[in-house]
Amino acid sequence: MTLDDAIRRRRSVRGFLPAEVPEATLREVFALAQWAPSNCNIQPWLPHVVSGARLQALRRALVGAAQASEPFAPDWPADGSYPGVYRDRQVDAARRLYGAMGVAREDRAGREAAYWRNHAAFDAPHAVFVFMLEPFDAREATDIGMWAQTLMLALTSRGIASCAQGALALYAPIVRRHLGLDERHRLMFGIAFGYEDAAVAANAARTGRVALDEAVRFHRD
Ligand SMILES: Cc1cc2nc3c(=O)[nH]c(=O)nc-3n(C[C@H](O)[C@H](O)[C@H](O)COP(=O)(O)O)c2cc1C
Repeated sequence: MTLDDAIRRRRSVRGFLPAEVPEATLREVFALAQWAPSNCNIQPWLPHVVSGARLQALRRALVGAAQASEPFAPDWPADGSYPGVYRDRQVDAARRLYGAMGVAREDRAGREAAYWRNHAAFDAPHAVFVFMLEPFDAREATDIGMWAQTLMLALTSRGIASCAQGALALYAPIVRRHLGLDERHRLMFGIAFGYEDAAVAANAARTGRVALDEAVRFHRD
């Protein structure tokens, strides 16, 4: 697969087969992602890859918290509301996702049920929880975004699907507790990954992008 193919083929997958990714492949993709650039090469990402019984226990705790309507406790504000054109794009992505799932816009219960799948990391066999140490901030967060896309492209090129999930950071204290981490570890997001289950309706969703000239300003004189 060429790099262009991997960039175009990567998409958010929200339904996985139970099969785990072989340990050697896991190590290979995370070793590759280490080559992401960062300010002054500080490499501020702190990924915790969770699989097997540990992931099952964490998944149960996150879903349990959501089902009990425990208040979210993210390390950064995350109310999910965007203004103007950003709202339009958000609505378009949601329309495509729920459309693929056959959930109508006014079907509140259906949308909620679909949303809750987030807390189960869509039943993926692996999830990586990505932390940043206090007092790092926006500058280091940009490094971590670059790392995450590098990782997801490395996964894609090996036929492994993924979904970055801000939702996996909504109960940060629970994740820290399960991984034995202190408060200085601030949870940014998680990425569910594994092999795609093509039978899951959500996986038929495709997002679009704004046109190049709407997105990018080219300056010369
Ligand atoms: C940092 C980050 C957080 C995200 N959080 C979620 C999430 O919580 N749940 C979800 O279903 N998708 C989540 N997504 C996936 C986006 O919805 C998706 O990337 C976007 O709609 C574009 O679609 P594509 O990834 O299929 O190209 C997240 C993506 C990023 C980069």
